[in-house]
Amino acid sequence: MTFRSLVFASLLYPTLAALGEECQRYLNVKGLNSPSDLAEQLATAEAGQPTPCLENVTAQNFYAPNPKPSIQGATDTTNLNCRYGNPQMWQSCGVCCGLRPHFNWVVATCEASKGVGQFCWNMPSCLTSGSPKINYVAAYQFDGTNFVLMDDSTAGEISPEGVRGNFWRGVGFSALNSSFQWSGGDWTTKYAPWARGSGPDGPRGVTPPAGLWILSAENFYYGAFYMLSQLGLNLEGKGQPTGTNCWMWELDPVEGTAGWSPGQPLPGNVNMDYSTENAQASGCMPISYTSRQANGLGSEFKFPEDFRATCAANPTQPGCQPSKENIHWGGGRQGTQRFENLWDEPYVFAVVVDAKGYWIYRWRPEAYGGHSTGWPGVNRHYALRTLGPRPAPVTDVRGLKTDVKGDVPEAVILQPSLSAEAACLRSSVEQVTWQWGSDALAAMAEELGETGPGARFEGTQNWWSSFTDTQQNANYPASIMGLEAKNMTETYHCNVPGSFSCDCAVEQRDQVLKASKEEEVLV
Ligand SMILES: *[C@@H]1O[C@H](CO)[C@@H](O)[C@H](O)[C@H]1NC(C)=O
Ligand SMILES: *[C@@H]1O[C@H](CO)[C@@H](O)[C@H](O)[C@H]1NC(C)=O
Ligand SMILES: *[C@@H]1O[C@H](CO)[C@@H](O)[C@H](O)[C@H]1NC(C)=O
Repeated sequence: MTFRSLVFASLLYPTLAALGEECQRYLNVKGLNSPSDLAEQLATAEAGQPTPCLENVTAQNFYAPNPKPSIQGATDTTNLNCRYGNPQMWQSCGVCCGLRPHFNWVVATCEASKGVGQFCWNMPSCLTSGSPKINYVAAYQFDGTNFVLMDDSTAGEISPEGVRGNFWRGVGFSALNSSFQWSGGDWTTKYAPWARGSGPDGPRGVTPPAGLWILSAENFYYGAFYMLSQLGLNLEGKGQPTGTNCWMWELDPVEGTAGWSPGQPLPGNVNMDYSTENAQASGCMPISYTSRQANGLGSEFKFPEDFRATCAANPTQPGCQPSKENIHWGGGRQGTQRFENLWDEPYVFAVVVDAKGYWIYRWRPEAYGGHSTGWPGVNRHYALRTLGPRPAPVTDVRGLKTDVKGDVPEAVILQPSLSAEAACLRSSVEQVTWQWGSDALAAMAEELGETGPGARFEGTQNWWSSFTDTQQNANYPASIMGLEAKNMTETYHCNVPGSFSCDCAVEQRDQVLKASKEEEVLV
């Protein structure tokens, strides 16, 4: 090749993309020659099912939210359709195939209605009638600079300034919740924003480049604040007209646990509400599960990348020794990701989804003079229409680790995302399944630049990479992602049916115990 043709060649092929180290290693570990080999293996993994799955555009136009944004700066999700992943995408007339990243909130309670859901069995009446007490719930779309309120996904009194709500005055969520009534089930009563008419005309939900949900409550002792896909919310709200609710994604930032194994002891007190990101997996937004698994069962701390520096600086801090610790970054029963919520104590929760993961903040307004929080514009009884990209950094050490006590003024929990390289390492310790195989293939497609219409691996997705980094991480320690379960040394007084009272509080009881012990010593 002459010098001239070399120059031409490099103009014609400006980026000769190659697999990263971890994705190349994945192929070696699995004995595959190329990403195409992996795609072929996935195509035969679900016998008889077309892979990628076949979308039903008619069904999507009926039920799915509009891929085109109405807020400038929000992402057009047309090309983010997930066609390799959760087996539900082959169900009932292709309505789930091509799921896009549009997510929205659900609030679940034990308020009396016809049946009683399993999360509400054995609950005392003080609890079913007194918790939660909600001021407002708000949803925001990131526009590249700010978070912008989405009126149709916000339950509170909406004005040009923002959203208001005050439970004690009967203003906001408690007065307006009937227009958000959704189908109850495992929780007796549920509220959510969903499309009563055609999907594209209904709520769009939160999409890339980032989103934010806020819940302000005078009491969130027991209940659930969680997220599902907007398509799923629409289908379930309509009573599953196509026979499915496309349950292919779920995030549970704050969830009471009595329904996890009804009748059995809860993992913590009844008023410890857990964060979980792995109740369902899509195959298009990889999740970590444990720190050890996320680091490929190796001893080196590699992922999430953003914690490499802090772990290198202080290698024995919690979360930095994946082979020695067993930390559930994804939350759940064995996890430590939980918030103890005291009775009639106001809390404001903010949940951000961005490229780095799910950031779950909790503030206790009583520690801020009664009204404000750490996020300018977010208050106990109102939130402004436009919010800056992030709150003031959390500095309280008790809030910079999971297992957050009821009296902690400010706290943040992170459920980390997986970059392409992290997804390949995470998947390398699993079989090639619809979940882990699809996650790895999407990672390779991204590294090779072969996603999108007409590309070789069209329909594979790592939705995390379509989100942006809103820079929530203020040089936080890895303990915001979790501790070891053995670090939870509290004594539970309220975790079996019959003991679910409305005044559970670990810290106060511990203090009381400590005080009486000190007295004994003095005596
Ligand atoms: C596509 O969806 C529509 C609406 O749900 C349904 O009537 C139709 O049968 C579906 N088409 C196929 C090929 O499954
Ligand atoms: C929902 O609305 C009803 C009727 O206004 C009210 O009685 C109930 O307390 C509300 N529930 C919540 C959780 O705000
Ligand atoms: C977790 O427990 C270990 C001992 O089991 C202790 O050394 C460590 O300080 C604890 N970490 C936190 C953050 O509580």
